[in-house]
Amino acid sequence: MKLLVTGGAGFIGSHVVRRFINAYPEYSIWNLDALTYAGNLENLSDIEHQPNYQFIKGDITDKEFISSLFEKEQFDGVIHLAAESHVDRSISGPDAFIQTNVVGTANLLNAAVQCWKGNFDGKRFYHVSTDEVFGSLGPEGKFNESTAYDPRSPYSASKASSDHLVRAYHHTYGLPIVISNCSNNYGSHHFPEKLIPLIINNIKNSRPLPVYGKGENIRDWLWVEDHARAIDLIYHQGNNGETYCIGGNNEWKNIDVVRLLCKLMDEKLGRAAGESEKLISYVTDRPGHDARYAIDATKLKTALGWEPTQPFEQLLAQTIDWYLANEEWLEHVTSGNYRSYYEKQYTR
Ligand code: NAD
Ligand code: DAU
Repeated sequence: MKLLVTGGAGFIGSHVVRRFINAYPEYSIWNLDALTYAGNLENLSDIEHQPNYQFIKGDITDKEFISSLFEKEQFDGVIHLAAESHVDRSISGPDAFIQTNVVGTANLLNAAVQCWKGNFDGKRFYHVSTDEVFGSLGPEGKFNESTAYDPRSPYSASKASSDHLVRAYHHTYGLPIVISNCSNNYGSHHFPEKLIPLIINNIKNSRPLPVYGKGENIRDWLWVEDHARAIDLIYHQGNNGETYCIGGNNEWKNIDVVRLLCKLMDEKLGRAAGESEKLISYVTDRPGHDARYAIDATKLKTALGWEPTQPFEQLLAQTIDWYLANEEWLEHVTSGNYRSYYEKQYTR
């Protein structure tokens, strides 16, 4: 099995690559990543010398490159995670999202169809998507596989477009596909532009903790290794052409996540109880901020026996420990471009 993972140097991709490298030594795992600001080979330093691992630096928006890579390497399968992934960046600059998430996905689909030439035996194209394609929930109900699409940010609209393309290539060309739509992940190697690692980093440095609006928006948090385990199961056992929703069954208001992080970090850093909460700073809300996400993952449980790991507080504490033990990683990813992004986003 020669498997191409795109975006393997990013947050979730690095967990997927690590899982596959360790679980399937007989597979050859190829990690294709453009190493944007979000991609970091340090995320894979523990497995980079494994004999079944190969890294290729390349951009999925480069049609010729992608097409010749497929012709040359004749992959058996693709797990496609490469994307521009941050909603706030999609608001300030949507073009990169349309290029990578829509055009890049189309390039991969075209290359797979051309390379496999209708002989799809043993082939599979797995597209990793998000629950944000379903839009925003009120206080009741959850997203599931039959929820209508209603994306509301340039990021989610670009992911929705790519989902539609993947399904269209299945129906039109017979491409064997699976898609999953997952809720918010947390865990190690998460880039500190996203809520949880940003708050951990700011508490550590006693900087203001920016909470958008009133902090009442709700997200359904899933441990990233649970997501990687679900991807493994779906890649190997999911039904051709089907979609699977993946979620943590773990809904939290943003302000409560921030308060929990403050409490856990006060304990770990030996600060007085309540010390870090004083850093909370309510800032201008995200435009079009989706109110609530929640996933009903019954299909995945019934079909493939997958369930999320709990409890949240314990895994969040483990996540904090990882950030405190990996200062060098944090320093590397928060130098340079990150600083100018941060100034622009939070000094308004
Ligand atoms: P990330 O931003 O941490 O990583 C994205 C990776 O893709 C990076 O390594 C980056 O270098 C690479 N990349 C970006 N543009 C590229 C291009 N043009 N060509 C090649 N590589 C490129 O993202 P993540 O949070 O790990 O998300 C991975 C995937 O999972 C995305 O498709 C995202 O939509 C989806 N997803 C994320 C979450 C979440 O909570 N983070 C939840 C559900 C789904
Ligand atoms: O639901 C899955 C999605 O989760 C993925 O598809 C995206 O790639 C991923 O980035 C994530 O999107 P969110 O927008 O939900 O994640 P983020 O960490 O940016 O924000 C989580 C919540 O916290 C959201 O309601 C906005 C809020 N927030 C975020 C930041 C960065 C703040 O209040 N302050 C902040 O500084």
